[in-house]
Amino acid sequence: MPHRMDSEERKAVIAIYPGSFDPVTNGHLDLIERGSTIFDRLIVAIAQNLEKDPLFAVKERVDMLEAVTYNWKNVEVDVFDGLLMDYAREKNALVVLRGIRAVSDYEYELQMAMMNRKIEPQIETVFMMPAIQYSYLSSRLVKELARLGGPVKDLVPVLVEERLRARVK
Ligand code: PNS
Repeated sequence: MPHRMDSEERKAVIAIYPGSFDPVTNGHLDLIERGSTIFDRLIVAIAQNLEKDPLFAVKERVDMLEAVTYNWKNVEVDVFDGLLMDYAREKNALVVLRGIRAVSDYEYELQMAMMNRKIEPQIETVFMMPAIQYSYLSSRLVKELARLGGPVKDLVPVLVEERLRARVK
């Protein structure tokens, strides 16, 4: 009989969704939802100590992400430091999930995925596309809009909208 992978044999697939999440947007949430339906466990991992100058402290980003992902029982929020591949190994993850919005994202994402594969060939990068209405959305633009008093409704969860308003006023 040919070898069959039934659900008892199959390893639970743990995926890491890494990023800055400064702050989490509806585009991130769209990807988290897609990831949570495919993977057994999805760890949303906030990178700390990036060279960027963040608007929100890591703790604030964790709080916001935890609040807005509360309903997905297989999604958790964590923070990591150092190399993503070291962290993914430590978590026994098989997959790194990244979102691709437009062709322009691809070059950087491909470079990162290939470098990560060189560091750890056992871990796969999986790309997913968000819904079309989020294809132009980024945390950077959301912050700029908020700073200049533009509308961020529908781009971020209500909680994030409130925190943004309080932060930039
Ligand atoms: O949301 P971002 O800023 O596009 O996320 C980038 C992130 C955090 C995924 C990337 O910078 C990263 O993985 N940093 C951890 C350090 C690391 O492993 N660098 C080597 C990547 S090839």
